[in-house]
Amino acid sequence: MGRKSNRAKEKKLEKLLKKKEDECRDNAMWAVIDAANSLTDPMESLQPFRTYCRNGIDVSISCERVTELDEQTVEWTFQLTKNNMQTLYEASEWGWNDEEKRKEMTDKKAWYLIVRDKVDHEQRLALVNFRFDVEDDYRVLYCYEIQLCEKVRRKGLGKFLMQILELIAFKTGMQKVMLTVFRHNVASHQFFVNKLKYIEDDTSPVLSVEDLVYDDMEGISYQILSKTIKQQQKANNNSNNITTNSPSLNKS
Ligand SMILES: CC(C)(COP(=O)(O)OP(=O)(O)OC[C@H]1O[C@@H](n2cnc3c(N)ncnc32)[C@H](O)[C@@H]1OP(=O)(O)O)[C@@H](O)C(=O)NCCC(=O)NCCS
Repeated sequence: MGRKSNRAKEKKLEKLLKKKEDECRDNAMWAVIDAANSLTDPMESLQPFRTYCRNGIDVSISCERVTELDEQTVEWTFQLTKNNMQTLYEASEWGWNDEEKRKEMTDKKAWYLIVRDKVDHEQRLALVNFRFDVEDDYRVLYCYEIQLCEKVRRKGLGKFLMQILELIAFKTGMQKVMLTVFRHNVASHQFFVNKLKYIEDDTSPVLSVEDLVYDDMEGISYQILSKTIKQQQKANNNSNNITTNSPSLNKS
């Protein structure tokens, strides 16, 4: 009897400890996200990445909170996304909804990379919409949109913008960069999977056996992709301090 009740007490204590540990881990995770969100400019230490002058384009790149963008820029981000994506959305089970998309793109947690012509600043050419968030117990930089005007595509700019995101993710202590792609968006598949080596994330919905047997991709038309951001940690010989090295990303 006595032993049984001790075991019950131990179990209760174990449960309590586990709950406390989970709480601590969650708090620590959200503290990193909050710190990232409270930055004035996540690109502050990435000065060489503020311009891209290659393959006939000469642009500047800034990182801004959605709340800092002027009205015309916010409208432009929506229109470019709509022009590029509406048909692809309509070919999926999601369909296209102006209001929903506007709401998502202007969520107060949204950050933007805005690409402008270096001389004519009014000419906006590309955008990235991203958020710092927790997904499935990972700290992630979630890329909601990467949208380029047609005239600046296939010039390496998309790859450069994704490199910036990966660097921001590294500097802010995120563990992954994540994004969602439509299976039928062939160009973006080539871009993310073949070129940038993003892989299907564990959270990506799996096609059913029937879908695979009948090669029916219509059930789930999207995939979640991710890339792990390795935080290389080096112990300092003379102290317990940890120094963090940046990943080897080139400007090319
Ligand atoms: C997808 C997108 C972001 C790619 O950006 P980009 O600047 O055009 O791509 P890059 O020039 O950096 O291309 C890097 C590589 O990706 C692959 N790639 C990019 N676009 C491709 C396409 N249309 N077809 C096949 N491969 C492509 C190629 O391997 C390319 O290297 P290469 O030009 O040396 O062959 C851009 O085309 C875009 O904005 N598309 C419309 C919106 C969209 O679909 N966004 C993605 C939503 S998930």
